[in-house]
Amino acid sequence: MEVIKIEGGHPLRGTVRIDSAKNSTVALIPAAILADSTVVLEGIPNIVDVKHLGTMIEQLNGTYSLEGEDFIIDPSQLKNTPLVEGAVTKLRASYYFMGALLGKFKEAVIGMPGGCYLGPRPIDLHLKGFEALGATIKQEAGAIYLKAERLVGASIYLDFPSVGATINIMLAAVRAEGLTIIENAAKEPEIIDLANLLNSMGAKIKGGGTDEIRITGVDQLKGTRHAIIPDRIEAGTYIALAAAAGDEVKIDNIIPHHLEALILKLREMGVDIDVFADHVIVRGRQNMRAVDFKTSIYPGLATDLQQPLVTLLTQATGFGMVTDNIYSDRFKNCYELNKMGADIKVNGNAAMLNGPYSLMGTRVKATDLRAGASLVIAALIADGVTEISNVYHIDRGYSNIEEKLTNLGAKIWREEVEE
Ligand code: EPZ
Repeated sequence: MEVIKIEGGHPLRGTVRIDSAKNSTVALIPAAILADSTVVLEGIPNIVDVKHLGTMIEQLNGTYSLEGEDFIIDPSQLKNTPLVEGAVTKLRASYYFMGALLGKFKEAVIGMPGGCYLGPRPIDLHLKGFEALGATIKQEAGAIYLKAERLVGASIYLDFPSVGATINIMLAAVRAEGLTIIENAAKEPEIIDLANLLNSMGAKIKGGGTDEIRITGVDQLKGTRHAIIPDRIEAGTYIALAAAAGDEVKIDNIIPHHLEALILKLREMGVDIDVFADHVIVRGRQNMRAVDFKTSIYPGLATDLQQPLVTLLTQATGFGMVTDNIYSDRFKNCYELNKMGADIKVNGNAAMLNGPYSLMGTRVKATDLRAGASLVIAALIADGVTEISNVYHIDRGYSNIEEKLTNLGAKIWREEVEE
């Protein structure tokens, strides 16, 4: 099996350029099929999820190509085809094809989504939204069958401001007849990015990024060109990494406004971070004091940054507690960090630390995408060499990770080892 190996103890210095947002990209690619001509997404990240979504575009008789960093989708010959096996099972965001195909063809057959296990991840709010727009839904044999004679705008209240449900409902509502209002909508930057793409295709969406999104359906959506926003989670991961292992690191091509909660928390810990218009500079390996972290919906601290931050907290002095208010089971990385010498106590949706802890290189396993990132940071500061398995999790969300870290002076490489 393929593993990533890292020799710790090399202070990092230099610049890392952040790529476009994975959690925007995985919504923009399904959204593109709503157009009747070519859509160009500029700055596509080099991550495995893009390949899986491209495969699904081809399964729908669409075509895509990569020209430099432009991802070009031609949906003009699209045929509504069930997506029930293969690529559709590889990532959770496959379910965005439900909203997109419902919007385009008023019918969709999609296999149950894959993706990281972080605790129960129901899609009841997505389906509630589709039913409010007039779809009937059947679930059988691991697939979801959606069909609507007519899609008619409706007022939809989300019991929880779900990112996925907000996005999926938008993808169907842009082609519904009349006005749809999504109340208690998710406000993440990726929602705004999607609204901007759809509006440039001719949709009529107002309120993206607020908790009330108003969508007036249109008959036709045309091709366009759209630059994807930078990845605030990749950026936050590298900021935490620089705070733990940095000498001095510039994290470039970011929107600092998207990371306010993180930056404030790191300053509370005593991390030396300077903020500029499109980058930050972090001076790492300071004496940090432990703080409590609580994740919440945007603009609060992102749950996707909780796991990298737990690793940083292992190097801080004092008692710290991390509470994940979004997912109930997102601390599996702590058991791997404890194998490296930490002593983290996990209790339900909270982890407690009393650092600092010296970390030793050993064999660890990435249990999900951001857990993998948490282990990479630990390996960079551990004594000796750490071997991380299940690296496919990391490759789903962190493009060119060896190249980026090697350019900062890390000793990181991949190897094939016996299972
Ligand atoms: C998106 O997942 C992201 N994934 C996640 O990032 C991120 O952690 C999450 O938003 C929260 O910010 C993508 O964008 C592809 P939710 P999503 O719907 O849409 C509950 C990563 O590491 N819920 O906002 O699935 C759900 O159980 C990934 O990049 C329902 O109850 O998140 C969870 O507790 C991991 N019913 C909470 O809402 C529903 O119908 C947040 O889920 C939908 C969600």
